[in-house]
Amino acid sequence: MINREIIDETPRQCLTIGRIAPDFTAITTEGVVTLSQYRGQWVLLFSHPGDFTPVCTSEFIAFAQLYPEFEKRNVQLLGVSIDSNPSHLGWLYSIMEMTGLRMPFPLISDRDAKVAELYGMVNPDRIYEQSVRDVFIIDPNQRIRAILAYPATNGRNMYELLRLIDALQVTTTYGVSTPANWMPGDPVIVPEARTFDELLQRVTDPESVGLNCLAWYYCFTDLSQVTPLNPESE
Ligand code: BEZ
Repeated sequence: MINREIIDETPRQCLTIGRIAPDFTAITTEGVVTLSQYRGQWVLLFSHPGDFTPVCTSEFIAFAQLYPEFEKRNVQLLGVSIDSNPSHLGWLYSIMEMTGLRMPFPLISDRDAKVAELYGMVNPDRIYEQSVRDVFIIDPNQRIRAILAYPATNGRNMYELLRLIDALQVTTTYGVSTPANWMPGDPVIVPEARTFDELLQRVTDPESVGLNCLAWYYCFTDLSQVTPLNPESE
């Protein structure tokens, strides 16, 4: 049997870490917003499948409760779904009635899926015709630094988002990396040796340069020992 299903083969931009976040202007619950107005701040752009659904409601309550933690880190939250602005307003009002929390960040109404298309938030198979739970962490130079995707059925962990933002900010400021399960205050991973002398020093006497090395390619230090990078070089 011939499959007569029409498949949408429109090529879509593949957004990856390191690319400049595509700019857009959109209607939100806080008025018209343009992404580039947040240059100089970190932005956490996140999509949700739909208003008045339980998992999304739990996520918005959690975002509102932890908003001061995002603010402390100079992070602007920006939600997006294809629902209408009146739907967003009604839903946020319902959340306020339930919890007393006023949503402290804009929620984009992406009726024509312009933002979802730009960021590849629409499932290309169009199974649900919904944006999914995507997260884009965008740095103050508007570069995409992290991308996460979750299914509709499972809510995100806001503490992991905060932890990842802390790790990205430490990397940006100090040029170091962070190991698995890193938490603020834990030792950080220093860049690889650049010369053979440096490599030998890491094998023979790492303490003299403030390092704790388990192998020449596996060295840690305390962040307090690291000089911040010149911001011009970021
Ligand atoms: C929810 O937020 O509960 C949800 C949304 C879309 C599909 C499934 C669950």
